[in-house]
Amino acid sequence: MNIVTVTASKTYDIHIGAGILSTLGREAKKLGKAETVCIVSESTVFPIYGKQAADSLQSAGFKVVSFVFPAGEASKNGSVFLDLLNFLAENRLTRSDLIVALGGGVVGDLAGFAAASFLRGIRFIQVPTTLLAAVDSSVGGKTAIDLPAGKNLAGAFYQPSLVLCDTDTLSSLEPEIFRDGCAEVIKYGVLYDPALFAHLAEKGLAFHREEVITRCVELKRDVVTLDEFDTGERMKLNLGHTLAHGIEAKSNFSVSHGKAVAIGMAVISRAAVKMGMLDAAVCQQIIQVLKTFGLPTSTEFEAEDLYAYTLSDKKRSGGTVKLIVPKALGQCEIVPVGVDALKSWIKAGL
Ligand code: NAD
Ligand code: GLY
Repeated sequence: MNIVTVTASKTYDIHIGAGILSTLGREAKKLGKAETVCIVSESTVFPIYGKQAADSLQSAGFKVVSFVFPAGEASKNGSVFLDLLNFLAENRLTRSDLIVALGGGVVGDLAGFAAASFLRGIRFIQVPTTLLAAVDSSVGGKTAIDLPAGKNLAGAFYQPSLVLCDTDTLSSLEPEIFRDGCAEVIKYGVLYDPALFAHLAEKGLAFHREEVITRCVELKRDVVTLDEFDTGERMKLNLGHTLAHGIEAKSNFSVSHGKAVAIGMAVISRAAVKMGMLDAAVCQQIIQVLKTFGLPTSTEFEAEDLYAYTLSDKKRSGGTVKLIVPKALGQCEIVPVGVDALKSWIKAGL
């Protein structure tokens, strides 16, 4: 098992290893006084891992209650959020009690926001069960729910007290969902780590899970330490995401987030070559790795459509969109682009 420590507004450990879900109760106990733990999970994950999580917590002496909602992004809304807050109140959780978020990014974001809000903040543990949650959403304290006007429009920066990533839980993921998480893993290689990139290029889907997840988490830890509140370096984690949000929205979300991020990374890399910022051979390497993972690297959508969606992206500030542009493997730059120039960038990369 590997342990990575995050030092941000809260200091906490991230445990990464095979079979460590059974240590949940023991590790929760080390966090100090708590009597009741509320497991927050969803309808796919809870039937597989809920009992093991609850047994571990009960063996450590906790009273366990469980709040389970229908799986999927559609549940990350205000109504489920309020139901969860009411459930916590009805079960009389106190400020010293704990929430365990058992699931992917949907569970982690919703449970984390509830933890930030209930009694003005109670502690929570992230137990990520998707690759995306393991390498990204469970680390760094971004929590949120969606509003009818858009994704993640209400939320808080609120760090967990522990992240416990049992890599065995990834074995029950649908292959397509695992592949989606791989786009985020490749993203870390392009952003920060040529050695990680080379390992992924060599091994493809057979990459070493514990080591690769640990490396991604270390890289995210470094970013969060520098810029917890997303005003500078952390924006780089949006590599490929500006276009991805446009592709997801334009496809009515039939293109998954991971695949859209893969296309977004390929498009920005091709555009960077045309703008003289990236070597064509490196662009080819990025595209080849995405293909090795079975991820798409192009879209049938026109620049005009994607441009319109990109402009409504919440990351836009005034007349400028901040593009994350690869300059070399392991090196990317934040490039502010005026809305007029944005269309040329998109056209250049499609
Ligand atoms: P998800 O939580 O919906 O999980 C994807 C699918 O996998 C679901 O159908 C789920 O039921 C299933 N699943 C989860 N774990 C499983 C397991 N072990 N075995 C079998 N099936 C399993 O989605 P996700 O991709 O994990 O996360 C996406 C969410 O994360 C989005 O809401 C996004 O906004 C958010 N996100 C947040 C951050 C952040 O920093 N907070 C970062 C990236 C993404
Ligand atoms: N997933 C982007 C971030 O945590 O900032």
